[in-house]
Amino acid sequence: MSDVAAAPQPDDRPAPDPTFWTVHQGDAREISALLQRAAQAAGREDQPFLQTTITSPPYANLVDYGSDNQIGFGQTHDDYLDSCREIFQSVHKWTLDTGSMWVVADSLLEKRPKGGASSRLIPLPFQLAAQAESVGWTLREVVIWRKDRTRPWSHHGKLRNGFEYVLFFVKSNSFTFNVDRLRDTANLKSWWVKYPERHNPWGMTPDNVWEIPIPVQGSWDEAAFHHACPFPPELVRRMVLLSSDEGDVVFDPFAGSGAVVRGAIEQGRLGLGIELNAEYVSLFQESAPAVRKEMPEVKPVSMMTQRLLELRMLKYPKDLAKQILRAGFTTSQVRAVLMEVESINFKPARAGYGTIDCSVVVADDLSEIESARLSKLLLDVVGKAPLSKYGLEARCGLISVAETAAKFEDSDVSIYTRGRTWHADGTLSGARLGAWISEAGTPTVVPIISPLHVRQSLEESF
Ligand SMILES: C[S@@+](CC[C@H](N)C(=O)[O-])C[C@H]1O[C@@H](n2cnc3c(N)ncnc32)[C@H](O)[C@@H]1O
Repeated sequence: MSDVAAAPQPDDRPAPDPTFWTVHQGDAREISALLQRAAQAAGREDQPFLQTTITSPPYANLVDYGSDNQIGFGQTHDDYLDSCREIFQSVHKWTLDTGSMWVVADSLLEKRPKGGASSRLIPLPFQLAAQAESVGWTLREVVIWRKDRTRPWSHHGKLRNGFEYVLFFVKSNSFTFNVDRLRDTANLKSWWVKYPERHNPWGMTPDNVWEIPIPVQGSWDEAAFHHACPFPPELVRRMVLLSSDEGDVVFDPFAGSGAVVRGAIEQGRLGLGIELNAEYVSLFQESAPAVRKEMPEVKPVSMMTQRLLELRMLKYPKDLAKQILRAGFTTSQVRAVLMEVESINFKPARAGYGTIDCSVVVADDLSEIESARLSKLLLDVVGKAPLSKYGLEARCGLISVAETAAKFEDSDVSIYTRGRTWHADGTLSGARLGAWISEAGTPTVVPIISPLHVRQSLEESF
């Protein structure tokens, strides 16, 4: 393999050697020597350096992968489990505290026992989990990989097998898990418009059933070669993105077609694998080189994300007004709430979604005592649910009708009446705004005024 793109490195580190960060031929039972060299190559001599391991051990004694001395094929079941445990142990030793291990495996049907007893389903994934836990790993998540076909093929008295288990183990509680990278806003139910505060603008937390079909079992990827069970690129992509960052080391002790190493390099990680079958190794090295995929520096913000952020910001003053009325103020005292956006955070961040200014437009005849009570109330309610749940930093204060009109002397402002914060009823200029606020009679709900103009139908999505 010749053309591995370099993962970003601090300036003082040499660029990674592409002849080392690849699939090596060897026996996974002897990975210590390779991992020792890899630690050095990663600049972490004798210390843990693996960020994540993504692997699928051979399918017990069921599949012959075509080389001598295989783990699985030709072994007793107990010897097979012992071999897997030893490998999980070496991997654990070299894994960083933030690191993890993914094991993809499936159950299998026992050979028909003598004497007419029915064959038992062997829960191989959980036997492997027990081996991994016995050497220090903690099972943290089970993902169902829903694929349209898998082994064992259909048998009499058995449903067609349609999924495999993906087990996720961690070394400590500080494991890397970048769930924001897998969010997407597709398939939001229609109530996102009315309840934007209940939806993450970047989409739902991905669930633990991953539907990733494979066209044919084995050798399905045009760029690949015949292998009994190569991982599809999308499966590798999800595991790599969730559990590692750019420049991290991603390892596979049963590399097979090299799908993990290839997927890791494509995402700017250092991919390392070991595989017993020399033919698979040379085919990987001769096949199209794994090159880092060009990723846009900043992911474009989807229309859906932008609209969810806007709706959330427009609904905040509506909830604020509700709290004010609940505290005994009337719509003749509180004429409107003006919401202005100060900043929007277009990336998932713990800091929240952005900053808004909420000015409560009060009637000119509101007494000083009532004004003081209202200011105190604002301080109190912004720190409590439901407003504290919006993930917005809000600066709240009072403003007069005349000041509000003056703000929009040279521009238009949108008005949202009847509590519909997703659909502006119209726009007004400063010249008409003051009169509109003062003369609007006494509405049952407090109107929201904002330079943000949204007209979103309840049915339509992006
Ligand atoms: C289930 S396959 C892995 C397929 C891989 N996930 C992929 O995407 O292509 C298991 C692999 O383990 C390899 N294997 C079996 N015994 C091994 C050993 N002792 N050391 C290293 N690899 C071994 C087999 O040759 C086979 O390619």
